Amino acid sequence: MDKVQRQYEDYPYPDRDPAEETRRLIVGSPSFPVELDHHLFGGKRDWAAGTSILVAGGGTGDGLVQLAQILTRAGVPHEITYLDLSAKAREVAEARVAARGLKGIRFHTDSLLNANHHGTFDYIDCCGVLHHLPDPQAGFDALAASLAPGGGIGLMVYAPHGRAGVYPLQDALNAVTDGLSPKDAIAAARQILERVPDGHPFKRNPHLVDHMASDAGFLDLLLHGRDRPYTVTELHAALDRAGLACVAMVPPAQYDPSPYLPDGLAPDLGPVATMQLAENLRGTIKVHIAYATWPDRAGEANARPRDLSIVPHLKGVAGPALAKAIAAKGQVRVTLASEAVRMQIPKKAAPLVATVDGRTPLSAIAARARLDPVGFGALWSEVDRALSGWGILHYSRLPV
Ligand SMILES: C[S@@+](CC[C@H](N)C(=O)[O-])C[C@H]1O[C@@H](n2cnc3c(N)ncnc32)[C@H](O)[C@@H]1O
Repeated sequence: MDKVQRQYEDYPYPDRDPAEETRRLIVGSPSFPVELDHHLFGGKRDWAAGTSILVAGGGTGDGLVQLAQILTRAGVPHEITYLDLSAKAREVAEARVAARGLKGIRFHTDSLLNANHHGTFDYIDCCGVLHHLPDPQAGFDALAASLAPGGGIGLMVYAPHGRAGVYPLQDALNAVTDGLSPKDAIAAARQILERVPDGHPFKRNPHLVDHMASDAGFLDLLLHGRDRPYTVTELHAALDRAGLACVAMVPPAQYDPSPYLPDGLAPDLGPVATMQLAENLRGTIKVHIAYATWPDRAGEANARPRDLSIVPHLKGVAGPALAKAIAAKGQVRVTLASEAVRMQIPKKAAPLVATVDGRTPLSAIAARARLDPVGFGALWSEVDRALSGWGILHYSRLPV
């Protein structure tokens, strides 16, 4: 068996206990349903018409459970196909799904390279998998081959700068522990890590924590048999070669270099080189989360608040609480992607934000505030610019 396949049989990733399903739902990007609707379907997906989903390299089930649970709760029809090479990871994912009583999921122990043997899909989730394939481009191509004409993909791949220090250590630890069982390799590598000097880039990188969470996390980060990071430029090139167009990097504001540039300096580099500049200047991006679709759908993909029939949703905060902060200071401060971010939002937008509940369309929010479409549009665009850039605001008609 291939070394990477062996690793995920011995240590299914991430380490999850199905008993915890009664206590919490793990949510995240990609594949948070309102987020994928926002970035891939203009916030106007007709969820009632049904959605076929592929979770490619589903592991122990985080993305799978998030999708199945939120769509089930919303009462919308869906079918999910789970693929993973690891039978052990599948067992954990099946137990998590059973613990929640979720239905409509087909499990297959198979490679995502065979994705199109299982059908074509409206949405494909592929989180943390492609960078582990012997030929990652074959993986991008296989996902494209199973994407329906009107569909989209959400994916995550590793990024180099935020993982500073990982790769020299991975090379060293793999060389020293070659031939040992995973358990012995982890024990030896833990001892070596203790002796590595504090000045090693890995030890100076505060963004890397997986190795502290579990043995599976340690193995995945520092003893991985195959793992290559992608710059944002390389990711766009891989999607391009697969015939796909990247429509969003998430959160979008993370890919804007302007906060670091002196006033008046705005180099005209083109969209991908501008994002690369942000990645290079930020230096902390550990993973890239991207949404991609067919090039002919790219123009209609990202939601825009010009259409007042769309429904805004807030992530991680309730409308009234956010409105209170805006009314008090005309500003919202949050820590996102390990950065303190300050967003300016006019105080007079607070009553609009207070009414965002994930069910009320923009037209009704404007009517309640007694604002005409032009006045509303001007004020709301400031809310939208600040909050959707950092992934706090999305548009979707999903009834959640
Ligand atoms: C780092 S885990 C990510 C799991 C899950 N997507 C998540 O984000 O929690 C990578 C998973 O990809 C699976 N995998 C690796 N190569 C694969 C392939 N060719 N086809 C399907 N699954 C694969 C592994 O077995 C493992 O479960």
